[in-house]
Amino acid sequence: MSHSQSPIGIFDSGVGGLSVLQALRHELPHEQFVYLADSGNAPYGDARGDAFVQERTLAIAQYLREHHDIKILVIACNTATAAAVELLRAQMPDLPVIGVEPAIKPASFSSQTHHVGVIATRGTIGSGRVARLVDEHGQRAHFHLMACDGLAKAIERSTEQPLPENAETTETRALCTRYISALGQFGQKTGQMDTLVLGCTHYVFVKDDLRALLGPDIQFLDTGAPVARQTRRMLEQRSLLVPEAEASAAGHHLALPTQIRLMTTGSLHALQAAAQRWLELPDNCCSQVAVTSPSAEVMAA
Ligand code: DGL
Repeated sequence: MSHSQSPIGIFDSGVGGLSVLQALRHELPHEQFVYLADSGNAPYGDARGDAFVQERTLAIAQYLREHHDIKILVIACNTATAAAVELLRAQMPDLPVIGVEPAIKPASFSSQTHHVGVIATRGTIGSGRVARLVDEHGQRAHFHLMACDGLAKAIERSTEQPLPENAETTETRALCTRYISALGQFGQKTGQMDTLVLGCTHYVFVKDDLRALLGPDIQFLDTGAPVARQTRRMLEQRSLLVPEAEASAAGHHLALPTQIRLMTTGSLHALQAAAQRWLELPDNCCSQVAVTSPSAEVMAA
């Protein structure tokens, strides 16, 4: 039975959700985290389809409960949230679940030109969830949607290779260039997009590429910090936050490997490289695991 000392579970199709873990760590420094990257099955969003993503989401939630006794699950993946959050809540009603969705609502309020670019996976862009968001907030702004096939995969791959000397030549930079130019005109003038919604957690890690293309004045919106605040609120409501005094006494405020565990169903080396590069975490935080999909019985229940 989970309790306040149990860890917060986080999962993504791969390393993208580490951007959400970064925000969670900042918001909740006394907590313990277990992160599962389903990199062995990434990307989810280009062509996998809803049934596959639902199956993996249920399997991973079950795994994190059974093996790590998580007290809450953060789905740090827009694609998995769009495809599976409702099913997961229906099947595990006693597990608090937080999903992520593209920041379409906040963008509709903050854009001055009322034109907003939204980049995400094909699965997210084509989802009913995004259609509903655009419908609800479309009176305040015009949304320009772009499915960025291959970009999450290229970001996954970039963790397996050493950083190239000339960043201009990277695969991620080429894909960002292609999709940003296909979106249209960015800028502060009438009809131009002054805001870009990063609707995939992986894309936070190519912010530098996007900034180089778009310049300093375009506003980027991602959901790491709001999701971290929402996680705090949900834990508070359920009295599941680690009491700060106990956490300090136990040394949990230090970024020790026991406080953050990262697991992958793919390459251990790639996860270690990503953890080191983006979160400055040591190799011994990381391990490789196998997560089998649930039986047909569980899926149909
Ligand atoms: N990071 C995931 C998201 O936020 C998806 C990447 C993928 O296609 O697997 O949508």
